Amino acid sequence: MSAAAAHGRRWPYPKIVAHRGGGKLAPENTLGAIRLGASMGFRGVEFDVMLAGCGTPVLIHDETLRRTTNGRGDVARTPYGELAKLDAGAWHSRAFRGETIPRYDDAVGLCRDLGLWANVEIKPATGFERRSGDAVARATRELWRGSAHPPVLSSFSTVALAAARSVAPELPRGLLVGRIPPHWQELMRDLECVALHCNYRALNLRLARQIHDAGYAILAWTVNDARTARKLLHWGVDCIVTDALVRVGPGTR
Ligand code: G3P
Ligand code: MG
Repeated sequence: MSAAAAHGRRWPYPKIVAHRGGGKLAPENTLGAIRLGASMGFRGVEFDVMLAGCGTPVLIHDETLRRTTNGRGDVARTPYGELAKLDAGAWHSRAFRGETIPRYDDAVGLCRDLGLWANVEIKPATGFERRSGDAVARATRELWRGSAHPPVLSSFSTVALAAARSVAPELPRGLLVGRIPPHWQELMRDLECVALHCNYRALNLRLARQIHDAGYAILAWTVNDARTARKLLHWGVDCIVTDALVRVGPGTR
């Protein structure tokens, strides 16, 4: 049986998901962002997880600290103890001053408290693909134990996804792509993925049908206008990830 068939219903998760926690309304990948997404009625969030220099999984998108914190240097060379001292909210707005880089375990605790589902994107720093897939999958298995809807682990890195599969094969996986490569079916089969997570611009109705006919769900990112979101949902796209939490609200259909 394929991973997608074993997974059961094609997409038993929320259909509209807040990107990086709170889209553009909050500093990405912070606990404040996750709280904001939940307060606006979102039942699912996407966030990025990278390993700090000491191996602790943390929420951050870029390999360097420059854009989203008041620190400098590489995440993969900075131990969590140092990352924890940085401000990860002031770059966004005064209201979020004092937000920090969350540890993955704290983010999961918050999601579970708020009843939120998560799409956990494994975002390895270059050279840390295997280690990141392994560590995030191990942590996920422990942290979400007993949850009715554990997260879907996704990544642009096939190495990270393969590592996640070897340590926690039971966790559903999504292959992230900007463009849909010609050999997507082979990749999905090899990595035993349940969903293709693609840039919405790469999709058309014909491809959407092919992906569904092959038994996979489709997550489209990052869709920031309601008209496009409705068109994609009409095509049968299973999940929309948005930065525009007001325009593409959690009730969009
Ligand atoms: O998982 C969807 C989306 O987050 C992928 O791109 O760069 O925003 O992490 P990025
Ligand atoms: Mg992401």
